[in-house]
Order: sequence, then C-alpha cells, then structure tokens
Amino acid sequence: MEKIKNYIDQNKDRFIAELMEMLRIPSVSADSKYKADVLRTAEFVKKSLEAAGADKVELCHTSGHPIVYGEKIIDPALPTVIVYGHYDVQPPDPMELWDSPPFEPVIKDEKIYARGACDDKGQVFMHIKAFELMMKTNSLSCNVRFMIEGEEEVGSTNLGKWIHENKARLKGDVILISDTSIIANDIPSIDVGLRGLSYVEVEVTGPNRDLHSGVYGGAVANPITVLCEMIAKMKDENNHITIPGFYDDVLTLTQGERDELNKAPFSLDEYKKDLAVADVLGEKGYTTLERTGIRPTFELNGIWGGYIGEGAKTVLPGKAYAKISMRLVPNQGSDKITKLFADYFTSIAPSSVKVKVTPHHGGEPVVTPTDSIAFKAASNAMETTFGKKPIPTRGGGSIPIVALFEKELGLKSVLMGFGLDSDLIHSPNEHYGIFNFLKGIETIPLFFSNYAEMNSK
Ligand code: BES
Ligand code: MN
Ligand code: MN
Repeated sequence: MEKIKNYIDQNKDRFIAELMEMLRIPSVSADSKYKADVLRTAEFVKKSLEAAGADKVELCHTSGHPIVYGEKIIDPALPTVIVYGHYDVQPPDPMELWDSPPFEPVIKDEKIYARGACDDKGQVFMHIKAFELMMKTNSLSCNVRFMIEGEEEVGSTNLGKWIHENKARLKGDVILISDTSIIANDIPSIDVGLRGLSYVEVEVTGPNRDLHSGVYGGAVANPITVLCEMIAKMKDENNHITIPGFYDDVLTLTQGERDELNKAPFSLDEYKKDLAVADVLGEKGYTTLERTGIRPTFELNGIWGGYIGEGAKTVLPGKAYAKISMRLVPNQGSDKITKLFADYFTSIAPSSVKVKVTPHHGGEPVVTPTDSIAFKAASNAMETTFGKKPIPTRGGGSIPIVALFEKELGLKSVLMGFGLDSDLIHSPNEHYGIFNFLKGIETIPLFFSNYAEMNSK
C-alpha cells in the first residue's frame, strides 16, 4: 500500500502529462475524417503499453479501427486478468458549447477537460499506469492481457468478430473494465448491470419531392407530422412503451431486489436541480433509479426534415427522419426488439406515406455477479482506497462487448469504473477528476493482489 502511494506521488505529474498527450489526439471513431487520428491513438496506446513493460504488444487490424493487444504472462499457474477498455471517443459536437477546445486538454479545478478525459481514455490510462506501477515495483501478482479497442462508441462490431477468431489466445479468468461511474467521490460503487441497445434510423416519405406548403398543404401528408404522430403512439399515458411484445422478455425484479436497489444514496431534488428541470418524467410506477437501471426505454436521439435554416421557408417536405435508441434490460434481445419495433412502426404508418427502418448497432444487456471472487477483489480494493465499502448499482449505459465476453469466452466482467455521472461524457466540457484518475491507479493494483490472493485459497 505504501509502495503504491509513493510511486503515484513521485510520478503523478508525468501520468497526467502523458494522459493529456493522449487526449490531444482526436480519436472519433464515428467519423471517417478522423481515421488517421484513431490509428495514431492506437499507436500511442501501443507505445504506452510497451513502455510500461507489456509483451507481444500489437495493433490488430480489422475492417474498422485496430484493437491494441498486449500481455504480461508471469506464470501460467497464476490467474489471468483481461483488461478491456476503449481509446475511441464520441464526436465533440456541438463545438460552440465547449469552454475550451475538446482536443486541447486543460486542467481547471483539479479536473482535466477534454473529449475522452473520462470516457474512456482517462480510465484506460489508469490501467496502463497501474500496470507500469506493478511492473516497476515488482508487484504484479496475476497475468494480464490488455485488449483496448477503437470502436466501442460505434458498437464494437469488429471486436466481436476478432474475439470470435482469437478465442485461443484470450485465455483468462476475468475481464476487468473501467468505463462506468461511481455514485460520488465519497460514495464508491460498482456497476453490476449494463443495459443493452437497439438503435434504428427511420425514414418517412410523403410526396416524391418537396412541395409548396400553400399550394399543396392540407391535401398531402406531411411526413414530419406523420412521423411525430407515429412516435407519439410509441408510449401511452403512463409512459409505458406500446410496441406489442416489447416487455415480454423483461426480467421483473422481486420487491426485495427493488428495495435493495433503491437503498443506494440518491436525492431526487439534487438530480432535478443539477439538470435544471422542475420535474422528472418516466415510466409510471418506477423510481428514477429503477427507470435507468432495470427498465427498458424508447428515446429519440435526433429528428429532422424540412427547412431548418435561418428565417422562414414555406415548404411541405418530402421526407422526415429520426434516430431512435431503445435501452434494453435482461432478458430482452436486441435483434428481437429491433424487429418488434420495425413491425409496429410499419403497421401504424398511414397509407399516405412510406416508411423505411434501418437498424444500426445493437448490444445485449448484462448483469454481473456480486458473489464472485473477482467482484470481492474489486469491492475490497475500493473499500481500502476509499475507506468505504462500494455499493452495487445498475448503470443505465451500455458496453455491448460485455455480453459477448460471456458468450464467446465464457468470462464474466467486473465493472470497476471511477467516473462520475456529472463528468459530462458524450457532452461538451467532458472532464475527469484528477482525484478519480489517481484513485483508479491506486485501486487497480489492489484488485490484482486481492484477486491473486483469493484465487490461491
Ligand atoms: N462508457 C460508456 C457506457 C457507460 C457509461 C456505462 C456510464 C455506464 C455508465 C460507453 O462508452 C458508451 O457510451 N456506450 C454507448 C454504447 C454504444 C453502442 C454507442 C452508450 O451507452 O450509448
Ligand atoms: Mn466508454
Ligand atoms: Mn461512451
């Protein structure tokens, strides 16, 4: 413990400077104009792993962005931890809302501001630095394999394929991931669930061209209006999703399990204040923690059509579009939900329009165990470094590859994240607390030592 603290104290300025270097490379996976930068970031990760002492570090090329693999096998008899994370980031838009440029990291109030600072470059870098620490202080107690990908923010399709093809070399005992949040810096927690995802884009076509809204208006279907009406039909007055069959596979929790989940510290007043909303809105009969943790959703991510430029243009547009995400919970399946949505959406379209549904990426929901050695190793590690036992929580976000780790490799994951929900991931002014970054570097080596020790018993 002393050894860990000393090493961090002596090296923390360098750790932060190196992370800032990584944050300067705009690794936006969704936008092909950043392809070369995404590759540069993969090379940065490779160099960092090599410098920290990893062996067999390589860029594994895919039809998309590369996966960075590296390992340190110290003794085949020891357990092997597979560290997963992602070096790609979300697009920085809208640019004008950033207080400082997204790829020019700055430190303000003990926080590093940049796209990817928390999600997930900052958290990946904690693992690389914790590994460096264990190597330099001769305290690595498990074998480790790193698998850092560049396509998490676009659905991890190529990593899924790569895992399938590389099963043999991915022998391990557990997956360790830092890509989630804790409740607060003085309330540690560990996510034990992630939601799945069905993401679709819809196109509603009315007339074969844009029309004069006076000459034709009132006589021809306006696709924007029709799209809005169709979307309005997707939920009832209780904010219950109306897609037939949507809830069929939803695992209902017992009242006891729900009570347990609602015991997590949460203030609805502060939540509302933070978001500047007078009230929350969600499915009737569920608390906010339940709405984000154990219930599926239907959300619009974007909707457009017609004229949105300056001033007024009288137009009856030919087409309208929307991007829709549905978050899923056990035991819903993303392919099935996508199909149920597409069937329903098509069935409620009036004959005055044509609709097209295009599925994007998906991902399956997961629940991770709390009675495993790995969970206990993480829980004890956090208890040591935070001075408080972490609370198991259900995260609302998705990490699609986690379900595939289970399916392809038969391995469970531990979601030992260190971010805060207020870190503005995916939003302008994303940041990561230096406290959180260093706390991660301090906690990870304890996970390794706890895990090795508990496995040997
Ligand atoms: N790290 C997040 C997921 C997350 C954040 C889980 C906070 C729990 C708490 C991840 O990078 C992410 O944003 N995932 C996407 C999934 C995707 C397929 C684009 C998401 O949840 O929208
Ligand atoms: Mn992430
Ligand atoms: Mn993300």
